[in-house]
This record gives sequence, structure tokens and C-alpha cells, in this order.
Amino acid sequence: MSNVTTSFKGAMLGAGVGLYFFAFFVGYAYPAFFSKHDVPKVKDYKGNIVAVRGYTEQEKLGKAIYIRENCWICHSQFVRPIGGDEKRYGPVSQAGEYAYDFPHTFGTRRIGPDLAREGGKRTDGWQYGHLANPQAMTQGSIMPKFVWYFEKKEDGEADITRPTEEGKALISYIQRLGTSIGDWRNPEGEKAAGSTVAASAPTFTPQMVKEGKVVFEGNCAGCHGLAGNGQGPAAAALNPKPRNFTEGKFKYPVNAKDSDLFKTLEIGVKGSAMPAWKDSLSEAQRWAVISYVRTFKK
Ligand code: HEC
Ligand code: HEC
Repeated sequence: MSNVTTSFKGAMLGAGVGLYFFAFFVGYAYPAFFSKHDVPKVKDYKGNIVAVRGYTEQEKLGKAIYIRENCWICHSQFVRPIGGDEKRYGPVSQAGEYAYDFPHTFGTRRIGPDLAREGGKRTDGWQYGHLANPQAMTQGSIMPKFVWYFEKKEDGEADITRPTEEGKALISYIQRLGTSIGDWRNPEGEKAAGSTVAASAPTFTPQMVKEGKVVFEGNCAGCHGLAGNGQGPAAAALNPKPRNFTEGKFKYPVNAKDSDLFKTLEIGVKGSAMPAWKDSLSEAQRWAVISYVRTFKK
């Protein structure tokens, strides 16, 4: 009787161990060592199938730094097909986009925003200013200051205009993220699409100016300066420089009307660090901040 039990146990153990190694081989060893990872193709934003290019040496170094600095603990890299992710971050991630990510940096938590489509969202100048001093760009940000990716000024502070080779590598990697599907933010011929410009500006009231001041100090002063003179803490890294509002002159277009500025706030200024605000500020907040910007003119 006991013999039967023992051999039954032995058989179960043997099967268990066998299955364990089988699963290990199929689920881990085979994909890791023998699979060719041969899916470097994605559908670009126009719907064409295109090849994904590998990382440059500089981008590879940037990714290694991203891992070393634990950026992935606060940032995910996966636009999920659920929960309005697309509206927030852009087109849903595709398998092919990770073909050269070994190890991948999906991350699990979103203490900061998802970075899967960060490439091209901001200028390099914005990224450098933010990396050295996130709070200058986003009031109250809890992202640490990564000052050691910049040469030092004489006073010992990080010089945001002189990133080190490692700093440049990190930002080149960040600017690469999510760009395998092409320049989806600027689809040809659709640059002005999606405008929600209101027919005419509301009449500005002292209450609006007061609200605008709060919006300005929280979102704009890092670049445009508390005094509106274009000399906020992040300005040094930026080219072109943030607009100096005390002059009361605007470029897009000349003699801008309030509704023109509203449009500028909605879409940002292409080729500059000036972000688009339509997702982060409400219409009322945008009108309010314009009413405040108008008060800087000397
Ligand atoms: C402690 C968590 C934390 C860590 C670590 C962290 N971040 Fe952030 N990050 C944030 C938060 C929160 C925000 C949103 C507020 C802001 O803009 O600063 C953010 C924003 C960003 C943005 C701007 C996204 C946008 O709005 O376009 C980038 C780019 C970024 N982080 C890159 C990095 C990189 C690169 C590293 C590593 C060197 C890093 N972060 C490490 C928390 C973190
Ligand atoms: C990351 C830096 C940055 C932040 C933050 C920023 N701006 Fe700007 N802004 C710029 C730069 C740079 C320009 C100049 C663009 C150029 O000259 O081409 C600019 C230009 C402008 C202009 C002038 C456009 C024109 O027609 O000349 C307005 C108006 C403006 N910003 C308003 C704002 C407001 C309001 C906020 C906050 C809600 C804000 N900006 C936040 C960098 C920034």
C-alpha cells in the first residue's frame, strides 16, 4: 500500500518538475535566447506599415541613464487602449514600438505622466529646463531636480544652457519616445484643425484678472517671469526666448487680438518651448490669463 503511494507521489513530483522546466523553456528561455524579436513594424499615424529603427548609440546611453535614474518608477511608457489614455497622451502604443526595448521600461506607476509619446511634445530647451528644475515649469512638481546633467555656473548652480554629454543623451532618448509612428502631432494639412476659438473674447473684469494672475504664476511665470518680462528661471535654456509682455508686442500675429492670443494658448507656438494649453487649462482659465497678460504692458 505504502509503495503505491510513494510511487504515485514520485510520479506527481516528476511531472511537476518536468512541467516546471517545460514552462521555463517555453515562457522564458526560448523567447529570451532564440526568438528573433522580429516585429519591428508599426502602423504609422497615416495607417501605413513602417519599419521601426533601432536606437542610436546616444539614445541607447540615454535609455541606460533613464533606467539608472529610476525615471521608470514614476513614469510609465505605455499608452493603454482604455480609460481615455489616448486623449491624454496620444495614439495607443503598439507592440512593434518596443522591439528594441530590451529590457522594456513600461513601468507600473504613474506618479508623473506617461512618457510613451513624449517625443516632440516639448522642445529640447523645455526638457533641459525641466530636467534641472521641474518646479520652474510645473508649479508644485514633485519630480526631483537632476542637476548633475549640467555643467556648473560660477555660482555653483546648474547651467541649463550647457547639458553634459549624458544630459544630451537622456533628452535625445526622451525625444525619440513614441515617434516611430511619425510626426502624429502635426499631420500634414491639418495644422489648424480642431480649433475651438470662441467667436469673440469676453469683456475682461477685475475678477478675471485676479484669477488670471493665479493661473499665470502657477503655469507661465517659470518661463515668462513673475513680472512678465520674459525672464523666468527656465528662460536661459530656451531659444527663442519667452515673450516679454511688458512690451505688449506679439508675433503671432502682429497686433494680436485677444482671440489670437487665445488661439496661441490653445495650440502653443510651434518650434518654441511655448506649450499648448488646451488640455491643461479650461477656456475660462485661458481667457483669464490673457486678461492678466494684457496688464503687463508698460
Ligand atoms: C518622484 C517621481 C519622479 C521621478 C523619479 C521622475 N519624474 Fe518626471 N515627472 C514627475 C511628475 C510628478 C511630473 C509632472 C509634473 C512636471 O511636469 O514636473 C513629471 C514630468 C516629467 C516630464 C514632462 C512630461 C510632460 O508633461 O510633457 C518629463 C519629460 C519627465 N518627467 C522626465 C523624467 C525623467 C527623464 C526622469 C528621470 C531622469 C524623471 N522624469 C524622473 C515625477 C517624476
Ligand atoms: C516652457 C516655457 C513657457 C511656458 C511655461 C509658457 N510660455 Fe508662453 N512662450 C514661451 C516662448 C519661448 C514664447 C516665444 C515664442 C516665439 O517667440 O516664437 C512664448 C510666447 C508666448 C506668447 C506670445 C505669442 C505671440 O504671439 O508672440 C504668449 C501670449 C504666451 N507665450 C503666453 C503664455 C501663457 C499665458 C502661459 C501660461 C499659461 C505661457 N505662455 C507659458 C515659453 C513659455
